[in-house]
Amino acid sequence: MPAFSASSPGKIILFGEHAVVYGEPAIAIPVFSTQAKAIINARIQGRPGEIWIEAPDISLSAPIDQLELDHPLRTAIQVVIGENDLDQVPSCNILITSDMPPSSGLGSSAAISISLIRAFSAFLGKRLSEEQVSDYAYEVEKIHHGTPSGIDNTVISHQKPVYYRKGNPFEFLEIGEEFSVLIVYSGISGNTKEAVEGVRERWQKEPDLYNQIFSRIGEITQAARGIIETGSPDQLGALMTENHQLLQKIGVSSPDLDQLVLAAIEAGALGAKLSGGGLGGHIIALVKSDADYISEELLKKGAVSTLITPVKNRDLNK
Ligand code: MEV
Repeated sequence: MPAFSASSPGKIILFGEHAVVYGEPAIAIPVFSTQAKAIINARIQGRPGEIWIEAPDISLSAPIDQLELDHPLRTAIQVVIGENDLDQVPSCNILITSDMPPSSGLGSSAAISISLIRAFSAFLGKRLSEEQVSDYAYEVEKIHHGTPSGIDNTVISHQKPVYYRKGNPFEFLEIGEEFSVLIVYSGISGNTKEAVEGVRERWQKEPDLYNQIFSRIGEITQAARGIIETGSPDQLGALMTENHQLLQKIGVSSPDLDQLVLAAIEAGALGAKLSGGGLGGHIIALVKSDADYISEELLKKGAVSTLITPVKNRDLNK
């Protein structure tokens, strides 16, 4: 019997994280150099409904019904079973792997859910639209943090750069002129749930200040969209750095992230910001041709890994 497998890329948020939870727009792009994968094999001897899941990265090896009811991997399976109105499914083994550091802000939770949802649906002989994959993954994202905007599952399921505003149809972005982004992992995991909840608590205490900040982040994102679509991407640098300063103000940066942003700019990046939930995870920097030099500088400052993503129209054709 053939194995059923699906892989999904990671993602970075170029502009607008956190404010997107409050209805402002955000821009995200897929990162194909990092992947999560699910492989499913039928268990010939297994009893119907017996599903064994292995995720060596988190030292998990257990039957799915022994996981907590709200375990994200169990939920992803249950959502697919529920949507297909199945009482029982054929027995199978599921292997989950990911080369994204967990809680790095690269969207590993959404990438894992999406790979699992795709592979498991294929195992059941069901073909899902990108929209369905994204909707099912959104159900799992709600477990990871109660109020997700939906941007991670959207960009990762569609695998194209998106301009996203909660509650509105998302739009694919046309990249006017190619540009490069350096992704630098701080080596410290950041908990998106904690970051999103912290922002909510502080927003409830100071709604006017926070709404003002969110709205400025929204303006920055809209301006960035124009620049991305019409060329002159160098101008994105200053917007990135301002976006980072606003993320600092809402309390989702950290000394390590601030240090990496500064180091990137000092080494010649055109601008830099944290990306994703924050409190750890990674920063992104807009770089020119001296990117290798910048990477070396950042590695000296304690960055754990770097990769460069040229953002160009080819990404739109994936
Ligand atoms: C996480 O990748 C992005 C956040 O804006 C949360 C969300 O949009 O759900 C921090």
